[in-house]
Amino acid sequence: MMPFPNSCPVPLILLKETDSTNRYLNDLCDKECVNELTTAVANFQNSGRGQRGNSWESEKDKNLLFSVVFYPSFIEARKQFVLSQIVSLSIKDELDVYCEHFSIKWPNDIYWKEKKICGILIVNNLTDSCISRSIAGIGININQEEFLSPAPNPVSLKQITGLDVPPLHLLSCIMKRMKRYYTLLQEGKAEWIAAQYQNALFRKQGMHRYSDEHGTFLAEIVRVEAEGKLILRDENGKERDYAFKEVQYLL
Ligand code: BTN
Repeated sequence: MMPFPNSCPVPLILLKETDSTNRYLNDLCDKECVNELTTAVANFQNSGRGQRGNSWESEKDKNLLFSVVFYPSFIEARKQFVLSQIVSLSIKDELDVYCEHFSIKWPNDIYWKEKKICGILIVNNLTDSCISRSIAGIGININQEEFLSPAPNPVSLKQITGLDVPPLHLLSCIMKRMKRYYTLLQEGKAEWIAAQYQNALFRKQGMHRYSDEHGTFLAEIVRVEAEGKLILRDENGKERDYAFKEVQYLL
């Protein structure tokens, strides 16, 4: 662990290397009292975790790999999707400072045009009908220029802009935004947050190609519900609703 820079608005744990910042922060919270919004950031993960049991590739010292802890006991378990919304909005808003064409691919990937720049993995601990703890793990491709894993469409901020952005600078800007969004959530502004999320969506307009268990189809996004379901309207005007993993975007 190293001392933390004072420009960051949250308690920071800097790690040279760990297996996974999600695993690290989760175990730390199991062992001791960790302040809300504490953020563990690593220069390298030797076993980074992605969605659907995948691994997360990131070259040493190139990217931003971090996890944040929330104790959102004021959020009902069935409304947990709002955490995905504030985390993804904080990142998208900050990336917008650098250039256009960033969007949020439902439920919580960040895309630039048709390529993925950031993945988010949120693990919630539920107690009764509330969320007692939530750990949001975020991987943003910043300065990596070659991707070796079979991830289909990665891109980094450097590839997009040509700029060398220091990962910890970006982290501190994102955490300022995340803190603000979290305060809005505590103040009961979930509907406003949902509207921002809807407006930031990848493919928010127009007919696009998707596939589900019945095959491929053309559809447009109608809305994302508070519980996180994606509602599509197909070519025949029929609304179809999907939970995470039940529909694929064909790119
Ligand atoms: C995805 O598959 O899209 C989610 C990827 C999440 C990766 C981040 S990197 C920091 C944190 N620690 C992990 O092990 N995973 C998340």
